[in-house]
Amino acid sequence: MVTSRGESCGECEAIEHASVDELRHVQLQRLRWSIRHAYENVEHYRRNFDTHGVGPGTLGSLEDLAKFPFLTKQDFRTRYPFGLFAVPRAKVVRIHASSGTTGKPTIVGYSAKDIDTWATLMARCIRAAGARTGDVVHIAYGYGLFTGGLGAHYGAERLGCMVVPVSTGRRDRQVQLIEDLRPDILMATPSYALTLAEAFVRRGLDPRESSLRIGIFGAEPWSEAMRREIESRLGIDAIDIYGLSEVMGPGVACECTESRDGPVIWEDHFYPEVIDPDTGKVLPEGEEGELVLTSLTNEALPVIRYRTRDLTRLLPPTARSMRRMARVQARSDDMLIIRGVNVFPSQIEEQILRTPQLAPHYQLELTREGFLDALTVHVESLAPDEDIATRRSTGHALAQHLKMHIGIQVAVVVHLPGVIERSKGKARRLIDRRPAH
Ligand code: DLL
Repeated sequence: MVTSRGESCGECEAIEHASVDELRHVQLQRLRWSIRHAYENVEHYRRNFDTHGVGPGTLGSLEDLAKFPFLTKQDFRTRYPFGLFAVPRAKVVRIHASSGTTGKPTIVGYSAKDIDTWATLMARCIRAAGARTGDVVHIAYGYGLFTGGLGAHYGAERLGCMVVPVSTGRRDRQVQLIEDLRPDILMATPSYALTLAEAFVRRGLDPRESSLRIGIFGAEPWSEAMRREIESRLGIDAIDIYGLSEVMGPGVACECTESRDGPVIWEDHFYPEVIDPDTGKVLPEGEEGELVLTSLTNEALPVIRYRTRDLTRLLPPTARSMRRMARVQARSDDMLIIRGVNVFPSQIEEQILRTPQLAPHYQLELTREGFLDALTVHVESLAPDEDIATRRSTGHALAQHLKMHIGIQVAVVVHLPGVIERSKGKARRLIDRRPAH
């Protein structure tokens, strides 16, 4: 098999390099199946499709999907826990859940075939990231209801790797295991990768000297600057993996090591659209908006036009025949509006990482002053015992950069090293101290 860049990819699945026509044909066949499956087996879809005057017969082409109504996180809440499942309970072999911002979690379910597809797709991701059969994979995504740990686990095993299922927490033990078992691959959230780098240094070890070659990072937004920081601190290639519980878990899309130009969406299993989050209209390819995903093969939990809230762009294929997505910088619902200015936490992160005196750990504290929201950026100096005057002046400089680049007036507090809460999985970036409305 020869990729569009002329490199051979002997271990890829044939579909990864299929022609566009072949891929669209597979997608249309599978989409028809998925719509019918949802319509015939899930009351929510049947009612909703009927109300919108659409159904299994509506799909003449892939574009006709735009006529179907969206599915939202709210629908998962309303139908909690199993109301969106399309197979009898006896066919569901696994449950996962994602932490909701409010109230109950979102429950998702898998048939035996879904688990098999997920393992295949995660193996595809890990291979795309540059791993090979026989590699040792240290998994520091959380195991349990979160999809990260077990998703990565089944994929790495499917690829024929030796898996070290460490889960999160106890960073000193993680460092010890990396030293002793000499893994090639680290799978973790990007913020936790930095926590581990720091734990190496605290033990007097140079993380760049470890056996790790590749990191496969996702589950939270991270920037190109964060990629460079992780790569230089750990001496590895950092690859972006994307996914979400409602659609499957990790492995919906993943970057390829040869191009590192945004995650490739595994379009033979998920059909992507990007919409204007305000109007719901499908946007032309390349324009930024909210990613909407439709599962093409999910048995237990078909999702038709799920609004991910993730902001991205669809990009043309490069290393594979399938389209890529631009790095997700933010969700349409974690956007902060500070005195009328839209701010994404990742924009602030970029500026922090550009300040050489500062460590890559930060938290944003949102308070209310009178009627206005105020933002305080808490960061850490790199130098231990740095005096307060020096820290104040670094803080002042960062505040000026934020004003210049993002247009917001913020307070910056530079703490001594080690003060900011460390990530145990997904970093808690925002502390909202505003009074409830
Ligand atoms: O975070 C699944 C996952 C596990 C993905 C491990 C990658 C690695 P949820 O907990 O349902 O599932 O959260 C999904 O996390 O809608 C995005 O907002 C965010 N997210 C996931 N991957 C990325 C990424 C898992 N690579 C939500 N970049 C998604 C930016 C990401 N955001």
